Parts: sequence; C-alpha cells; structure tokens
Amino acid sequence: MNSTDGFNASSKVLRVGMVGLGMIFDETYKPVFLDLAHSPLYSPATGPVDVRWTAAASRTGSRGRNYLQQLKNIIPPFENCHGDDSIQKLLASGVDAVCVATPDDRHFEAAKIALLSGKHVLIEKPSVLSLAELEQLQEIADQKKVLAKVVYHKLADPDHKKLRTHYADNIFRHINNGYCSLLEPKQISGKQFAEWIVGRNPGTYVAVHYIKLIDFTFGSSSVIPGWELTRVSATGQRGLVGSADGSTWDSCQLQVTYRHPDNREATFDIHTSWVMPDNFPGYVEQEVQFRFDNAIWNAHQRKRGVEMAVENRTPDEMKNTPNYHYNGSFLEPWGKRSQRGYGLEVIRRFFEEVSFVEFAGPSSSRQERLQEMRGLTYNDLSADRNTVAIVQAMEAILAEQAKGNPGCQVLVNGPDGGLVLYKPGKIERVVLHSSRV
Ligand SMILES: NC(=O)c1ccc[n+]([C@@H]2O[C@H](COP(=O)([O-])OP(=O)(O)OC[C@H]3O[C@@H](n4cnc5c(N)ncnc54)[C@H](O)[C@@H]3O)[C@@H](O)[C@H]2O)c1
Repeated sequence: MNSTDGFNASSKVLRVGMVGLGMIFDETYKPVFLDLAHSPLYSPATGPVDVRWTAAASRTGSRGRNYLQQLKNIIPPFENCHGDDSIQKLLASGVDAVCVATPDDRHFEAAKIALLSGKHVLIEKPSVLSLAELEQLQEIADQKKVLAKVVYHKLADPDHKKLRTHYADNIFRHINNGYCSLLEPKQISGKQFAEWIVGRNPGTYVAVHYIKLIDFTFGSSSVIPGWELTRVSATGQRGLVGSADGSTWDSCQLQVTYRHPDNREATFDIHTSWVMPDNFPGYVEQEVQFRFDNAIWNAHQRKRGVEMAVENRTPDEMKNTPNYHYNGSFLEPWGKRSQRGYGLEVIRRFFEEVSFVEFAGPSSSRQERLQEMRGLTYNDLSADRNTVAIVQAMEAILAEQAKGNPGCQVLVNGPDGGLVLYKPGKIERVVLHSSRV
C-alpha cells in the first residue's frame, strides 16, 4: 500500500519522536516505522494501535531532510527538528514516546529531558555511562509514571533465547566461565563514528551486548537469580584510531567476575575492537563460548550456514557470511517485500509495551499495567544496574590507563563502596559509586 495518509484504522494513536538519525536508525527504526505506517500494532488487549513516527531531532537536520524527500510518498511527513534545542522542539511537537539513538555519551541528556516531559523512552545500548545517571533516569521515570527501556537486541536472537532456555531448564548446569568476541570493521572507527570517536572505546560500544547477555542469561535478572557481580578489570590497545598514548581505543579486553550463591565464581572475558579489515567476509566477527559444570555452548553469529560469493560485490558491498537473522530484506514467498529480524522485533516490542500501558484497559488500572511492563527485566532500566556498573568500571579503568596507570581493578560492593577502583601498587582508591550496585 502506498499512502501518505497511513491506514487510519484506529482511534488509539502513539506518536513517536526519534532523537538521532544515524546508522542504527536507518538499519532498524526506519523499517519498523515504515511497517507500522501501513499496518497497526494489534493485540487482543489493546485492539489496533496506530504507531506514527511524527518527529525527529538531530544536530543539523540534513538527514531528516533527506528522509522527508526519500519517504515522501510512503509515510506522512514528520517534524524535522534540528539545532541546539532540537529535542525541546521535538517534545513540544506532541509526541507520546521518544527513542534515543545518539552517540552513547549523549544518551543521558536526551533521555532525561524526554522523561521529564512525561514521555515513554527507549534508549539504544548502552543506556547510560554511570550508575548516577541511571538512578536519575529511573527516579524521573518513577515520578512521571512512564516506561524507561533500553535496546539489547541480542537477547531476542533465537540462539540466545535457546541458551537461556537450556539454563532455565537445568540442561546447562552452573555457568563457570566463557569468552565472547565482537570485532567491528575499520570503517566504523574511521568513517562512521569518526566525528565522535575521540576518547571513546569499542568496549562501551559493543562489549555491552555481551555484558547484558551474560547478566540477563545467568545473572541477576536471570531465571535462576541470586548471583553477585564482584570485580571488573580491563585493558586495551591504542595507536590506530588515535595516538598510542591518547584516550581513544582501538581494541579492548574486559574481564568480569560474578559469585554464585554457593560462593563459586564465574568469570567472562569479552574482547572487542573496531579496527578489523574492511574486506572481512562478514559485517562483524562475533563468537561466544560458555562452559558449564556439565556442558559447553559454542555459537558463531556469522557462520550460521550461509556462505556466498558474488563477483565484484563480495566481500565489500556484500558479505560472504551474512547474518540474516538480525536484519534482512526479503522477497517473501507470498510475493511481498519485507525487512525483518530480531534487531527490528525488539524495537517493535517496545511500542507493544507502551501500547499495553496506555491502551490495554481503563486508566484506573494503568499503574498496574505500567508495573507489569516495568517488571520485564530484559529491557527495563531498573534491571540495567550491573551492565551500567561494568561499563562505568571499564571506562574508569581505561581512563586510568590513558593517564599512565595500567592494570587497575574495580571491586563491586566491597569494603569501600559500591564501585571502587584500585590502582596497582598505590594505596589511593577512587570511589566511582558509593552506594550498593
Ligand atoms: N543495537 C545495535 O546493534 C546498535 C548498532 C549501532 C549503534 N547502536 C547505538 O545507537 C546509537 C547511535 O549509533 P549510530 O551508529 O546510529 O551513530 P551515528 O553516528 O550514525 O548517528 C548518530 C546520530 O545522532 C545525532 N546526534 C548526535 N548528537 C546529538 C544531539 N546532541 N542531539 C540530537 N541528535 C544528535 C547525529 O546527528 C546522528 O543523526 C549509539 O548509542 C550506538 O551504541 C546500536
């Protein structure tokens, strides 16, 4: 259907504002909005809900102008807000929910102002970079009685769902250790993020996917609860993206340790980089191995079966080993073109959760519906404490290394506070967060 009016089938309308129109918007949010423009969300509890992308905020507005042109016969126009007060303009345009997909060190301000205006908020991973920021956002969301959620699409990957299912069903017993690796091509650090990469590291950008997977699957929000995060260490390499003694990192190795209720420990190594050759046969290189008392799990995100070669197109424009499960465009057997995958599913799911709160019953029971959706630990900010703590610890350890103090370690809920950094050979310590993680 090609209509600038949308389907207009429902009196229940959810107007969505998008902050940041970069790569992830184009890959995942845009196809979700296009799909929703022509077919309402539906559940028996809500009936049809018309989800409309009505406003965008970005710094220059140029990407917004391009999309208005590109999509002009496909969806109704959205308000294209730009400049220093672009988010205020977006909020004033009358949206009900806001999605934040700005660079990771700019999530907090955008999410805070949207929550203060009483909007439901979805933030790209990592939600924020410190526990103090996380606590502030949660407090505002509580006061304003809205949802504050974060996107971790790896939790919706069927392979990861099965991993968690096996753990929940006691097929895999007692996680002991594991490794995860996620390597991005050079074009990410060299072109895509060149504008904001100074002082940043690939760990915060991508290790966070696996930090969350581990924490959600085996940890505090797990179906088998009760373990505690105990310590974090990290190191990294510099010299390609920035100078060898600067604060911009090429690659990063993170180690995280948890303690089970039986006092046995579980440790995970997560290796990341954004300097892999651009002619690598896949978009990213990702693999994991988890070892249990009675089992081992190996998974490769790229080598799930498809391997192809096209003259003059692979491995640059097209890849030899694509991951169609995350996000793929297809000609469906019934003739339609579609774009689908767990990367899109997880965003659509947020709109379902907001619709459930707003439209699945009378306003007198809205608070109960809100609580029910907040109880979903896979995406609620309240369940992101361990992940944010690990990110905050890793950033602090790398910052110390850049100052000439490599080998620092952060202890969690130890004798000196919630998150405390210790420097090797020095009595001095830095309290990153005083209250319990
Ligand atoms: N889920 C995933 O797998 C995945 C993949 C890539 C990126 N991301 C996340 O998405 C976020 C954005 O990444 P990206 O790759 O799209 O980045 P990008 O650099 O391609 O785009 C960033 C966008 O934010 C806008 N922006 C920057 N500062 C702003 C501000 N102060 N106010 C309003 N707009 C602002 C820019 O104009 C641009 O449109 C990051 O948090 C990243 O971690 C997630």
